[in-house]
Amino acid sequence: MKIGIPKELAPQESRVAGTPETVSKMVKAGMIVSVETQAGVSAFIQDQDYVQAGATIQTSHASLLGETDCLLKVQPPLLEEVPQIKEHAAVIGPLFPLRQLELVKQLRAKNITAFSLDLLPRIARAQSMDILSSMSNLAGYKSVILAADHLNKIFPMMTTAAGTILPAKIIVIGAGVAGLQAIATTRRLGGVVIAFDTRPVAAEQVKSLGADFVSLETSHDTSQDAGGYAKEQSAEFYKQEQDIIHRYIREADVIITTALIPGKPAPILITEAMVKDMKTGGVIVDLAIEQGGNCPLTEAGKIVVKHNITLIGLTNLPSTLPIHASQLYARNLLAFLNYVAKPLADNALDLSDDIIKNCLITYRGDIINPLVKKALE
Ligand code: NAI
Repeated sequence: MKIGIPKELAPQESRVAGTPETVSKMVKAGMIVSVETQAGVSAFIQDQDYVQAGATIQTSHASLLGETDCLLKVQPPLLEEVPQIKEHAAVIGPLFPLRQLELVKQLRAKNITAFSLDLLPRIARAQSMDILSSMSNLAGYKSVILAADHLNKIFPMMTTAAGTILPAKIIVIGAGVAGLQAIATTRRLGGVVIAFDTRPVAAEQVKSLGADFVSLETSHDTSQDAGGYAKEQSAEFYKQEQDIIHRYIREADVIITTALIPGKPAPILITEAMVKDMKTGGVIVDLAIEQGGNCPLTEAGKIVVKHNITLIGLTNLPSTLPIHASQLYARNLLAFLNYVAKPLADNALDLSDDIIKNCLITYRGDIINPLVKKALE
């Protein structure tokens, strides 16, 4: 099987879908790997590193796409790239198909076997392939580093000859993968953390990291679906949640919001009135910005100051840590590739397998994932 690792064309994307480590494992497994020249340069990987790992370097983007049996991607292919991809080839990467229906149609028309790893089920045997967790983890870390950099004071308590400085107070809203890493990173920097989540099961994880958990009085069944994702709540619930958060906000130096509901806009949890009540000089990092944001004042892709609060709405934070992001991402992709390589080669994908049936979007001119199929109908 000929594997292709192209240079990502999406703006501000620094990651690469394969590293010398994963390429050498593919080569050992008998795969032929082709890497586009300069594909890894933003992640500080040179062409020569890939050559040493056993890959060949392809100078033309179009040729790489046209010759590859299985294309490994960090971002969904651009619409203009699809005509260049070989008919019947496989594509593995996040496709965000529900937001990219035109891309799905084009991939189907070219008989591409397209796997979308953002739809991987969160089950134990898929953990090694879980790109969402790897990348959310890094985003959670970076959110705290950004907040610390923009906060006009320090995080830890310091007892000095000039007196004692009290620790910064941080609120984390949403204690999933990103939120938990934000808590852990804040604790390492010496900040004091309070966390909120609609899923009561998050309480134990939050407390184990040394943060306080504020209960929103939801039950297990009303708060999460079978996949462990948060369920959407009523407008009344969100109003009550805003009121509870509002009580804590006056003391907060930093708020990191990560609250997401799959397939829906992010819930608004920090209103303008709440921002006005924060301590002057505070920081909000809105990690939910790509789904609309948890605070209506945050602006996607920007850092803005409103009411003396710095609002950070930067997108694609993992791409700002391209070395480790590429390392983890490439390992996830390799785990998935190892899972599907033989069935792909034998033309024997098991469409009843949970991992395959969720991730497989287009296959032999058909749509497989039921949610995407429904969206297209
Ligand atoms: P996510 O990115 O979809 O959401 C972030 C967090 O926001 C979640 O914890 C969610 O409960 C919370 N949230 C949603 N609405 C909220 C609100 N109104 N107020 C406060 N918090 C709110 O979540 P993520 O990080 O992708 O995790 C989703 C689930 O998957 C979790 O249950 C997690 O434990 C599970 N998981 C399982 C894995 C596995 O077993 N392989 C790996 C990673 C995550």
